[in-house]
Amino acid sequence: MDLSTAIADVRFSSCLMNASGALCVTREELEALGECRSGAIVTKSMTPAFRQGNPEPRYYSFPAGSINSMGLPNLGYPAYARIIPELRRFEKPIIASIAGLSPPDFLEAARAITAVSPDLIEVNLSCPNIHGRPQIGYDVEASRALLLELKDIVTVPMGVKLPPYFDPVHHEAAARMLQDVGVDFLSVINSVGNGLVVDPDEERVVIRPKGGFGGLGGTMIKPVALANVRAFWKLFDGRMPIIGTGGIVSGTDVFEHVLCGASAVQIGTALVDEGVGVFQRLEQELSELLQRKGYASLSDCRGTLREL
Ligand code: DHB
Repeated sequence: MDLSTAIADVRFSSCLMNASGALCVTREELEALGECRSGAIVTKSMTPAFRQGNPEPRYYSFPAGSINSMGLPNLGYPAYARIIPELRRFEKPIIASIAGLSPPDFLEAARAITAVSPDLIEVNLSCPNIHGRPQIGYDVEASRALLLELKDIVTVPMGVKLPPYFDPVHHEAAARMLQDVGVDFLSVINSVGNGLVVDPDEERVVIRPKGGFGGLGGTMIKPVALANVRAFWKLFDGRMPIIGTGGIVSGTDVFEHVLCGASAVQIGTALVDEGVGVFQRLEQELSELLQRKGYASLSDCRGTLREL
């Protein structure tokens, strides 16, 4: 089955890749993503300096999904600027995720990383886990100002990782801004920010940072993810490449994202829980599903979700 895809004219041999944050902080993790069957290597969101991140436990997984408050642990962009050229030997696209605690952080990382030419840059507008730093993606004008500055620096295709929106008015405002700026792709969605998971036996929270609040991922967020993929697919008339993320644990989940309009998908919680073997399993499940349904390739069903 042909599971290849393209985002902003970059070819991917498989539409499946890791979500930024999942098993992609260290050189070893990035190399493991290079060696496995994923279609790309996506880095952890990078900041100017090395960050240890938040105190542990900071990730907790349970049947409905996961909650995390990692706090942007990463090696700092100078390390990723050294590692990225070495990852080219795996001959798959490299997506560098950049973040920051303030706009100048983003610009600094964008300059250094553009210089080593990753295939794509994903600007993370949606880290929910830094206390006192609200997700930029929820402030349309702050996002616009930042992205316009980044556009002057970044010379490879540049996309944005968006937080989930929960109202059509917010989808429309974000889409207008992204159209004005001229981003090349969307990554939709980041974790559902600041949820709270409770352990009723222990009568306590399950992760240490921020009183137990953290970003939700996995199965429980799939309908939110699908709604955001669909909303942006429609607002851009199917002409904006969308990477769908959120709640993918089976080939059927990938298929649902593609029906809503995703050109590729990213795997977070299921990758952390299962390891890089998840890509081969999903590839097989998706191939079998498409075959059973009589599709010859992914592009035959992209965006074709029927309405009643
Ligand atoms: C972290 C979590 C995110 O959802 C994100 O987009 C960036 C960073 C984190 O806590 O490390």
